[in-house]
Amino acid sequence: MSASSDSLDLFTPVFKHFRRLSAADCFTQAYSVTSHPSLFHHCPITTSIDLDESLGLKPISSWSLYSCLFCDGLYFLPNPFTSVGQHQWVHRALNDYARQTKTSVGDNSNNEQLARIRWATLGYHYDWTNKIYKDDDHTKMPNELAKLCQIIMQVISSSTNCPMMQAEAAIVNYYHLNSTLCAHTDHSEYDALTKPLISYSFGNAAVFLIGGQTKAECKPSPILLQSGDIILMTGSSRLCFHAVPRILSDPLLKEILCEHLDDECCWSYIHDKRININIRQVYS
Ligand code: SIN
Repeated sequence: MSASSDSLDLFTPVFKHFRRLSAADCFTQAYSVTSHPSLFHHCPITTSIDLDESLGLKPISSWSLYSCLFCDGLYFLPNPFTSVGQHQWVHRALNDYARQTKTSVGDNSNNEQLARIRWATLGYHYDWTNKIYKDDDHTKMPNELAKLCQIIMQVISSSTNCPMMQAEAAIVNYYHLNSTLCAHTDHSEYDALTKPLISYSFGNAAVFLIGGQTKAECKPSPILLQSGDIILMTGSSRLCFHAVPRILSDPLLKEILCEHLDDECCWSYIHDKRININIRQVYS
C-alpha cells in the first residue's frame, strides 16, 4: 500500500458529518429497513424454539432477520423484545451489570456512580490498556445473558450460514446523549474471524457506522439502531472498523418503556441514555 492510500481516511469525515447533523437528519439519513429497504435482504427464519419468559422476547414467528447488503457478514434483527423485556434488560444493566467490580468507575458494588458509569465488563474482563483478555481475570457470565445469546445465535445460524458462538465476555456501554464511541475494530478475541459478535441496543437511538477493515477501504455506512435492535457481525464484517458518532433522543422511548415502568429510577436514568451490550467468544 502506498503512503498516501495508507493514510487515506474515509471513516473520519463520515463520523464528523453525523456529529454535526441535526437529529432529524440523522434519523432520515441513517439506514433502517423502513427508510432504505433496498439495502437489506430478508432472511426467512426457519427455526422455532421454546422461549424462556425471562428473556423478554416476542415469539420467534414475529421476528424479521436481514442481512445488510452494504456490509458483508453484517446481520440486523430489528427489536425482537417485548416492551416488558426491554425494561427488564435496562433494569439488569443498571441494577446488576453496573454494580460490578470491573467498571469505568472502579468497584461500583454500591452503585454510587451510576450517573458517571461508561462501561462494565462481564465474563472474561477486557484489559483496556493492553487490549487483551486474561484467562485468570474472569467472573461468571450472567445466566440470562448467556441464554439470550444462545437463542439469538441459534435463530441466526439456522437461517444463514453464520457459525455459532459461546458467550464468554460482555462489554456493557453506557452512553449519554452527547457520548460518542471512536472508530475501532474488535480483534482481541482469539478467533475473531470465525466467532461472531452480537450487539444489543436499549434506550435512546444511535447512529452506528460500519466501514471496511482499514479506514481507507470504503466510506462507512450509517445504521439507525433503536431500542431492542440487535446486530450481529460475522465473517469479514467482524473485523471492520465501526463507531458510534451520535446518540439520538428517541421520542418513542417513553411510550415503549414507561407503560411498564413501575421503577421510576430506571426511567430517570434511561430517558437520556443508551445502553449497548455486546457479547463475544474469547477462546476457541
Ligand atoms: C461497540 O462497538 O463496542 C459498541 C457499539 C454500540 O454501542 O452499538
